[in-house]
Amino acid sequence: MMKFLVTGGGGFIGANFVRLALTEGWGTVLNLDKVTYACHPATLAMLEQLPNYQFVRGDVGDRPLVQDLLQSFQPDAVIHFAAESHVDRSINSPQDFIQTNVVGTANLLEEVKTYWQQLPPGAQERFRFIHISTDEVYGSLGPEDPPFREDTPYAPNSPYAASKAASDHLVRAYHHTYGLPTLTTNCSNNYGPYQFPEKLIPLMICQALAGQPLPIYGDGQNVRDWLYVEDHCRALYTVWQKGQVGQTYNIGGNCEKPNLEVVQTLCDLLQTLLPRPHLNYRSLITFVSDRPGHDRRYAIDATKIQRELGWQPRETFSSGLEKTVQWYLAHQDWVEAARTADYSAWLVTHYGSVLTHRP
Ligand code: NAD
Ligand code: TYD
Repeated sequence: MMKFLVTGGGGFIGANFVRLALTEGWGTVLNLDKVTYACHPATLAMLEQLPNYQFVRGDVGDRPLVQDLLQSFQPDAVIHFAAESHVDRSINSPQDFIQTNVVGTANLLEEVKTYWQQLPPGAQERFRFIHISTDEVYGSLGPEDPPFREDTPYAPNSPYAASKAASDHLVRAYHHTYGLPTLTTNCSNNYGPYQFPEKLIPLMICQALAGQPLPIYGDGQNVRDWLYVEDHCRALYTVWQKGQVGQTYNIGGNCEKPNLEVVQTLCDLLQTLLPRPHLNYRSLITFVSDRPGHDRRYAIDATKIQRELGWQPRETFSSGLEKTVQWYLAHQDWVEAARTADYSAWLVTHYGSVLTHRP
């Protein structure tokens, strides 16, 4: 059985990856997660039910801890998801992003390098460090620009994107300088079960279920390229199995949509799945001030991973969104438990009174 040390496995994508890895028998998992606000206790509880799973609460930047875990668990791969991940929070508190995404990744790499150098030849050959990054490192596209390719120059615009770009460069340098067998993936916007309701799609679902405003930044015409989270996790498994060491792979859902269209589609889906007397979900849509420096368009060209590794997404936006909404409808206890004091404080700090007033 392969052994995966997963960082940030209590967050959205990490938890989906761990769940799939354990239910589909990809290997055993040690999950190292700091349990920040983005790690939902109910998500951790779901993972605890699965076989071949261990959890350690801790920081990826804590070198003695990481050293200890590497020595005792002896992983065949490190799958590095842990990060501060919300652009709006990075605008408010960039230092947290530098600390985890840059310093944390640097510390992790240093310990992983030492561990990998001490492995016997066969295990050293087999070992992989997979770094999960974002399309946001490439900056913003104009309406007619071709989608991001792996060789698109980096041009990060938010503190979040800059911190992820810095971590990508560190990973690249550890491969180039020390030969550490790294692979980096840059994916587009994920959606699906277990996503913390501060990101667009789960925020809108939770607001709509509460009959509260759906805040759209600016004119709602910013474009994102949507990827169903399980498709992303399967792509990562494919990269682990077949990816060429030192390479980067873009992962996307071939699904560009303006935000307003995403939210309208969501409203229409809720109208069908959960009709409520006197509630037209679309009427909850509320335009609010734009995000500072808001990137206009992201789009991924995923032909490299399709051509070289044979991966492609299984879900369309319509099938993925329906699965997502059905999951949130079936897990309202999860949604309720996510409404912590910290979460409510974030909504008030970020949106003011907009979110609580019925439009
Ligand atoms: P998330 O915010 O949902 O989860 C992050 C997890 O990391 C949480 O469980 C948190 O507790 C943990 N964590 C944070 N700081 C830590 C630290 N110092 N040490 C250990 N654990 C720590 O994030 P996500 O959406 O699951 O994203 C996972 C990765 O994918 C991130 O690296 C992110 O940059 C990248 N990514 C996400 C998306 C997306 O759409 N969600 C898109 C592109 C790339
Ligand atoms: P988000 O989910 O924060 O992901 P990212 O900024 O990493 O792409 O936002 C997705 C898009 O939705 C982005 O263009 C910003 C927009 N957005 C809103 O219009 N309103 C909101 O309340 C949020 C959170 C996002």
